[in-house]
Formats: sequence, C-alpha cells, structure tokens
Amino acid sequence: MALELVRLAYVSTLQPRIDASDLTELIEKAAAFNKTQDITGVLAIEGHRICQILEGPSDSVKKLYASIQKDSRHHGVTTIENRPIAKTAFESWGMAKRNMVDMVVYALTT
Ligand SMILES: Cc1cc2nc3c(=O)[nH]c(=O)nc-3n(C[C@H](O)[C@H](O)[C@H](O)COP(=O)(O)O)c2cc1C
Repeated sequence: MALELVRLAYVSTLQPRIDASDLTELIEKAAAFNKTQDITGVLAIEGHRICQILEGPSDSVKKLYASIQKDSRHHGVTTIENRPIAKTAFESWGMAKRNMVDMVVYALTT
C-alpha cells in the first residue's frame, strides 16, 4: 500500500572528519527535503554516534533510507526498527539535532 505509514530507526557512526558545522548544513537540507516528503522524525547525535528515526509514507521513507545508507559521511548503518505504524510519534520534534537521552526518555514515556 503506497500510503502505508512506517517508522524506521537506525544507528550509525559519523566519519571522524565530520564536524558540527557539516552537520548544521546537513540537518537544514534534511529538514527541508523531509518536509516535501511528509517525513518527520528525530536525529539524535552524541559525539560521533547517530540515532535517527524517520516516520512517513513507506515509499518515501524507503527511498530516503537508501540514500542515507549510501552516504559516505557515516558508516555502520544498522537498522533497529522498520515497521508499519498507526500514527507518527515524533512529528513535534522536527529534524533537528537532539540529545540521545531526551529521545529515549520521550520514547519511554509517551
Ligand atoms: C546521519 C545522516 C542523516 C541524514 N538524514 C537525512 C534526512 O533525514 N533527510 C535527507 O533528505 N537527507 C538526510 N541525509 C542526507 C542523505 O544521506 C543524502 O545526502 C540526501 O538524501 C541527498 O541524497 P542524494 O545526493 O542521493 O540525492 C542524512 C545524512 C546523514 C549522514
């Protein structure tokens, strides 16, 4: 079903050469693109470790994840969740840089 809503979560590790200013640009572009695809979620960063949650129409999330997996700015991309959902849970977060602990607390308390 084309409009099936899914949640996909993965973890990865940024390349050592990537610094905070690279991420600011990446996140701005990502937020703008995700909006055009009705994709919401959260990007948590701790040091060089990444955890991102993407929620949205299954086709759009699948295509975006294929690009993210090929992105040479990070490695070790490991899917931790990929399943249909009835409704999104992270839409109010915006695709902005977040603290991992905040994200875990939110996920466990809502
Ligand atoms: C950790 C990480 C998270 C990313 N998240 C997104 C995202 O949420 N949305 C997005 O459009 N691009 C995101 N990107 C960038 C994509 O990997 C890719 O550069 C972008 O989709 C453009 O792909 P293209 O050059 O194949 O068109 C992310 C990249 C990294 C390294």
